[in-house]
Amino acid sequence: DPLAAPDLTTCKLAEITTGGETVECCPPVSTKIKIFTPDTSIQLRTRPAAQLVTDEYLAKFKKAQALMRALPEDDPRSMVQQAKVHCAYCNDAYPQVGFPDIDIQVHFSWLFFPFHRMYLYFYERILGKLIDDPTFALPYWNWDSPDGMFILSGCFPIPDIYTDTTSPLYDQYRNAAHQPPVLADLGYGGTDDDVDDQTRTDENLAIMYRQMVSGAKTPDLFFGHEYRAGDTTTSSYAGTIENSPHNNLHLWCGDPNQTNGEDMGNFYSAGRDPLFYAHHCNVDRMWNIWKTLGGKRKDPTDTDWLDAEFLFYDENAELVKCKVRDSIHPEKDLRYTYEPVNVPWLFTKP
Ligand code: C2O
Repeated sequence: DPLAAPDLTTCKLAEITTGGETVECCPPVSTKIKIFTPDTSIQLRTRPAAQLVTDEYLAKFKKAQALMRALPEDDPRSMVQQAKVHCAYCNDAYPQVGFPDIDIQVHFSWLFFPFHRMYLYFYERILGKLIDDPTFALPYWNWDSPDGMFILSGCFPIPDIYTDTTSPLYDQYRNAAHQPPVLADLGYGGTDDDVDDQTRTDENLAIMYRQMVSGAKTPDLFFGHEYRAGDTTTSSYAGTIENSPHNNLHLWCGDPNQTNGEDMGNFYSAGRDPLFYAHHCNVDRMWNIWKTLGGKRKDPTDTDWLDAEFLFYDENAELVKCKVRDSIHPEKDLRYTYEPVNVPWLFTKP
């Protein structure tokens, strides 16, 4: 069977590390649950590449993010609560309905892409609502493309809009050694190797080619293995992009001087950093690109995937139940797309 949406009344303390320190991440409980229905009449939103945004866009984004930070902590749309959404679904706060000893985990399996897509969708709609602009779209961190002289559209370093310490897009818990112009290491394993920028660029593009093209020829490899009601992640595994660069970049961004790699380096705290959402937009963009690459690269058709459910609070602070199937046609059903840029790794077979 498909994973059922959590019962919010059973939410318990989340575990920062398995069996370790705990933290409160439960959302407010609501007895009224709406069923998600796509609103296909709304205007298409275009998510811009973070390194290409206009001043006008940036002003809007900062305003929206500041307003989200200013919401009372118990408002499900506040920044604090939005970060807790990730914590609860990822750090063992929700027992599975019908399987009280097994907790929901949306990583390390085929739930990874759809869960994060819907999470970003609601986050984006909340920001848009706060500035009364339903066309507002989140930017993406274009980490699959170098910030080079000849490839003008890319961005391996953390995008500048996130590093202004006076901005609501800033977060203090990041690795100080990984600030621009340092290029992101898409294969980062926890230690810095001092390679020159050309070598880093070549390595990063080779990782992208492997994780998107040569190593991701089937849905199982790309999305990750199946995870159904009653399953634990011991029998599933992560897809190529979730593994790398997704995980590596979390680790690369987090502050190694914090106990648990806060903020980006741990699931429970990652959503506190606005950069998280830009990182995940690019992960999400990879799903769209992958489906254009041909062969067997198509969404799974198993109804235990399509009918898996999640709960989120929407822009009106109403609780909404959605299914994986609501996420698979983003342009048609969720009404967003990505600003096109060069995809330099596509034809650079290492
Ligand atoms: Cu839910 Cu980037 O992790």
